[in-house]
Amino acid sequence: MLLEGKTAVIYGGAGRVGSAVARAFAREGAQVHLAGRTQAKLDAVAVEIGAAGTAVVDALDGAAVEAHAEGIDAIDISMNVISHGDVQGTPMLEMDVEDYLAPVVNGVRTTFLTATAGARRMRGGGVILIFGGSGDPLRGYSLGGLQTGFDALESMRRQLASELGARGVRVVTLRTGGIAESLPADFEGRDRIVGDIEAATMLGRAATFEDVGNVAAFVASDRARSMTAATANISCGTLID
Ligand SMILES: NC(=O)c1ccc[n+]([C@@H]2O[C@H](COP(=O)([O-])OP(=O)(O)OC[C@H]3O[C@@H](n4cnc5c(N)ncnc54)[C@H](OP(=O)(O)O)[C@@H]3O)[C@@H](O)[C@H]2O)c1
Repeated sequence: MLLEGKTAVIYGGAGRVGSAVARAFAREGAQVHLAGRTQAKLDAVAVEIGAAGTAVVDALDGAAVEAHAEGIDAIDISMNVISHGDVQGTPMLEMDVEDYLAPVVNGVRTTFLTATAGARRMRGGGVILIFGGSGDPLRGYSLGGLQTGFDALESMRRQLASELGARGVRVVTLRTGGIAESLPADFEGRDRIVGDIEAATMLGRAATFEDVGNVAAFVASDRARSMTAATANISCGTLID
């Protein structure tokens, strides 16, 4: 197993991406701590994967993030996949500035808080995983401030990796080009958007949540110990490095 003996914290661990990563980490032998906003949702995932712990932690609240991290013996892997309150699909000319800024401010704030809280407690190395989708804007669909937020996280990844390398802590972003299965069946324009996501790939299919979990587990493992300040492109060819 790739992650035997490792302790991982996943913020947003009951979400669609977070729970997929949690499943993969648990399957690979990690002790998984799930943090999020709703206890019942965390419990449901925890029962399924046999999580080591769950906690309601507001990732926007630095004191709460620190107190939670302090309660975990040692952290090897930290990943933040909370939702950032993003408004998507609204053209920028029609967008409220607060809606535009929300994913930027929330994404930068929570990633800073969770990554630094984890890194301070990583002994003998560790891994910070960032989740994003930085790249060219999608044609015909506005990501609003989400794209700007992803780009800001890429800047943070470079800075963190540079500062934390001496402590043996790696920082890697997982980049997707859109996960088609995340769109609810009744989402307006779903078929067109899914078609656009798939058409933009080279492989003719979009990454799934399971794909994200599998790559996250590999990147978090010692098999990827030479990867830092790097991105793992899991876009099926939508994003070209
Ligand atoms: N799905 C995609 O295609 C895709 C692709 C690229 C990037 N992303 C990004 O990945 C992130 C996660 O996406 P998702 O589809 O997994 O979202 P999701 O299913 O809505 O899950 C997000 C989780 O974050 C938790 N959360 C929200 N605010 C929080 C806070 N302040 N503190 C702690 N936990 C908080 C939520 O808890 P509650 O449910 O209890 O509120 C929820 O469990 C988003 O930022 C999204 O933009 C998604």
